[in-house]
Amino acid sequence: MFDPSIFTESPDFNAASLEAAKYIFSRVHPALSEGKQFVLGMATGNSPIKLYEELLTLFRGADLDLSQFYTVNLDEYYPIPQAHEQSYHTYMMQHFWGPLQQISGTFNPQTQALIPNGEAKDSTAECAAYEDKIKALGGIDLQILGIGTNGHIGFNEPGSDPDSRTRVVQLAEQTIQDNSMHFAGDATAVPREAITMGIATIMEAKELVIIASGQSKAPIIRALKDAKEPQKDIPATYLMDHPAVHFFVDAAANAA
Ligand code: GLP
Repeated sequence: MFDPSIFTESPDFNAASLEAAKYIFSRVHPALSEGKQFVLGMATGNSPIKLYEELLTLFRGADLDLSQFYTVNLDEYYPIPQAHEQSYHTYMMQHFWGPLQQISGTFNPQTQALIPNGEAKDSTAECAAYEDKIKALGGIDLQILGIGTNGHIGFNEPGSDPDSRTRVVQLAEQTIQDNSMHFAGDATAVPREAITMGIATIMEAKELVIIASGQSKAPIIRALKDAKEPQKDIPATYLMDHPAVHFFVDAAANAA
């Protein structure tokens, strides 16, 4: 079971995003201001957009040296050109890395931001190299996660193994339908595969923050609260075995 106290409810999307951002910054700020490294795991999708905006506001007000700040993304479509307008690389440049670099020249996405390469010729080698890069950084301090309506985390679709690592996966039909909104409603334009951190990779992060909002997420949040133990068909239930996990939900997502 998930401990009910790990769910923080806010009235709406904006408020939940602000709560999550403040929480994350309360972890990032002390480390960076003491000159320590911080590795922040990033998610994409609609859920963290406002959270990133709020996080950037907090960075703007803090005047931190970001030379020890690293970001590591969960996943990327495969194959997809990096410059494609719907690549997660483009998303990150727009919503986080670009603005952060504007705030402080001490953050350089070229050297401080990792994301799987959707253009890699050898996808198996890319996945192994990605795991190695995360290890070389000493692991992820805090991983931000959204959640799919089918309970996926990253692109770990139902059926994903708890021991899974960064790998190429097929997207579930539900995910293709959900994500078609970003491809002008055309499901055929959504890539069929992705590179994603595995469940085991995610579980190794020291801390996890999940953000969920809106009524479309209410059934999956209910399912998580009802789950007694981890279930392969709802990958997010694996998170109940993590020692430091926090859900930031709005009232609509928490309503079922
Ligand atoms: C996408 C991403 C996930 C994301 C999830 C929810 O397919 N691969 O990392 O968390 O689905 O997306 P959204 O936040 O848009 O609902």
